[in-house]
Amino acid sequence: MGGQYFEKRPASARRPARITVTIRGRPFLFQTDSGVFSREGLDRGTELLLEAIEVGPCESILDLGCGYGVIGIVAAHLSQGGHVILTDVNERAAALARANLVANGTRNAEVRIGDVYAPIDDLVFDHILCNPPIRAGRVVVDRIISEAPSHLLDGGSLWLVARTRQGADTLRLRMTKAFDGADVVKRGSGYKVLRSIKSGA
Ligand SMILES: C[S@@+](CC[C@H](N)C(=O)[O-])C[C@H]1O[C@@H](n2cnc3c(N)ncnc32)[C@H](O)[C@@H]1O
Repeated sequence: MGGQYFEKRPASARRPARITVTIRGRPFLFQTDSGVFSREGLDRGTELLLEAIEVGPCESILDLGCGYGVIGIVAAHLSQGGHVILTDVNERAAALARANLVANGTRNAEVRIGDVYAPIDDLVFDHILCNPPIRAGRVVVDRIISEAPSHLLDGGSLWLVARTRQGADTLRLRMTKAFDGADVVKRGSGYKVLRSIKSGA
C-alpha cells in the first residue's frame, strides 16, 4: 500500500527503478523507488522549473524537498564552481539522492535530512529551488516561503513551481507578501514557475 511521499520513513515495499532523462542538453541517470515523489519519471513541474532556472557558474544553492535529487543534481552541474545542499524529510528520498550524486558524478553537492530549513541552520544561499510538497499541507508550504528570505543573500532568489489548479496563484500571493514581489517566469502543461528576488537593504 502506498503511503505519502513526504513520510520520514516510508513503509511501502521497495520497488527500485531507474530513469534516464536529458535536461538542458545533458543526460542524467536517477534511481527512484516507491515511497518517494514521482517514482515513475521526471515530474513535468520539476522539468519546467529546471528549464527556467538561471543559475551562475559559482553559486550556493539549496534544493529544498529534493526527493531523489533531480533538481539539486542538475543545479550542481549548472554551477560547477558552486555548492548545492539537497534536503528532504523523507529518509528514503535522501538515500536515493545520495546514490544519485555518485551515479551522476556530482561532487559539489551534499544531502541533509530534516524538516524545511532545520538541516541548514542559518546558512544563506544565492538560490532556493523547490517543487513544494503541496500534499504535506499549507503549514509546510507557508514555512518554505515565509522563511526563505532569511536564508537568501541579498539579490538571491526563491524559485517554486506549482500546478495552476493546485494553487500556483495563491503561492504567488504568499511569495509577494514575503518578498514584495513574485514573477511568473515560465508556464506550460498547467504549471507555473514562480520567482521572488530578495532585495538588498
Ligand atoms: C513535490 S516533491 C518534489 C521532489 C523533488 N524535488 C522533485 O522535483 O522530484 C516535494 C518533496 O518535499 C519533501 N518534503 C515534504 N515535507 C517536507 C518537509 N517538512 N521538509 C523537507 N522536505 C519535505 C517530500 O518528501 C518530497 O520529496
